[in-house]
Amino acid sequence: MQNGNKKLYIETLGCAMNVRDSEHIIAELTQKENFEITDEADKADLILINTCSVREKPVHKLFSEIGAFNKIKKEDAKIGVCGCTASHLGAEILKKAPSVSFVLGARNVSKITKAIKEEKFVDVDINYDESEYAFGEFRSSKYKAYINISIGCDKKCTYCIVPHTRGEEISIPPSIIINEVKRAVSNGVKEIFLLGQNVNNYGARFSDKTIKKMDFSDLLEMVSEVEGVERIRFTSPHPLYMDDKFLKLFATNPKICKSMHMPLQSGSSEVLKRMKRGYTKEWFLDRALKLREMVKDVHISTDVIVAFPGESDKDFEDTLDVVKKVRFEQMFSFKYSPRPLTKAAEFKEQIPNDIASKRLKTLQDLHTSIIDEISLKQKGKTFSVLFEELKSGGMIAGRSDNNFMIQAKGSEEYLGKIVDVFITNPKRMVLYGEIVE
Ligand code: 5AD
Ligand code: SF4
Repeated sequence: MQNGNKKLYIETLGCAMNVRDSEHIIAELTQKENFEITDEADKADLILINTCSVREKPVHKLFSEIGAFNKIKKEDAKIGVCGCTASHLGAEILKKAPSVSFVLGARNVSKITKAIKEEKFVDVDINYDESEYAFGEFRSSKYKAYINISIGCDKKCTYCIVPHTRGEEISIPPSIIINEVKRAVSNGVKEIFLLGQNVNNYGARFSDKTIKKMDFSDLLEMVSEVEGVERIRFTSPHPLYMDDKFLKLFATNPKICKSMHMPLQSGSSEVLKRMKRGYTKEWFLDRALKLREMVKDVHISTDVIVAFPGESDKDFEDTLDVVKKVRFEQMFSFKYSPRPLTKAAEFKEQIPNDIASKRLKTLQDLHTSIIDEISLKQKGKTFSVLFEELKSGGMIAGRSDNNFMIQAKGSEEYLGKIVDVFITNPKRMVLYGEIVE
């Protein structure tokens, strides 16, 4: 990276998409505007908060954070708010927090160089098309490259604010993606992480109408053919689009890591209908259990929302039932949070918080007992691990092909290498093992 004379402090909340957006912003500002990154906000000339709005809590936190930055920032330092909360609150942020200089929506990151030069700049246009814009190169990991394959989301899940913050879905042309993959690999990257709100809907719409029809499986094959790519991951796929072609490619292509995110959201077909997810409990179970059958040691992660409006005890039992049957290796679970602009926020029968809390605990306790059993079963297995990080006590850490967090004794020489590890001491969050030479 270039050594600039202005300092940028950037805080990133939310999902992998936001992490990549922050990388884009850093690339623009360090390569075109002579900035360098700092991790000390009080030394920064520009403080950026890249926000998430998927649940209510982080939105509340934004204003107290701006207040905290006001107290420590250099007198002439600028504060900018980007990301999904910027998209949804827009100019209101400037009114509520006059120290903020600009508000840049999640679909407008390429305009960052413009935003920093103007006074009180707001751009939260969700129709802006960035799909053919080649962003500069900055990666927070040396060995893993996040690469966007689409922007926005066309699904209208009734709980979700994202279509209102990131706009309609447009696929990025395959030529831009493949160039980015090649560039990353030539810089030493081993693992390609494809990103989109709904990755397996890839190809549904390109802005360039001359691009030949293709789907996500076709793109995965193209990426896997790039020389030097050793691992491919992606997030998030939608269970609705997990057709047989996709599952077969996932199972048989050796470069595709055997880890699938399958956001369940609810196990009740009734609730799924009101969420507008487009699949039933039976479809989800069929896909997940088929995956288990096809891929030995597959790692399945999920997202679950409890207490969606109108969720009955019986509906919640259905969610527990799916969790018991699929036995997810990882689960992210949330209490339903009503979001502005969404249909579900207007649904009657919002569930009282005490019931929501009780359900969340029941679900999380069930899942903890499942992962404890899963972890124990990994003892004596061997996994291939990409080591990425030095830990204290002479340990190194990385992820197995099937996404377990693994640690072993080792030094720098293993960083960026994919090696076999024999698991000797599995714990709930980390499997400890020994490198097999
Ligand atoms: N309330 C609670 N959780 C939500 N998510 C999305 N919207 C909401 C909401 N309104 C969860 C979903 C999604 C994850 C990123 O966040 O589970 O998959
Ligand atoms: Fe990511 Fe959704 Fe949060 Fe936006 S609202 S940062 S898309 S999780």
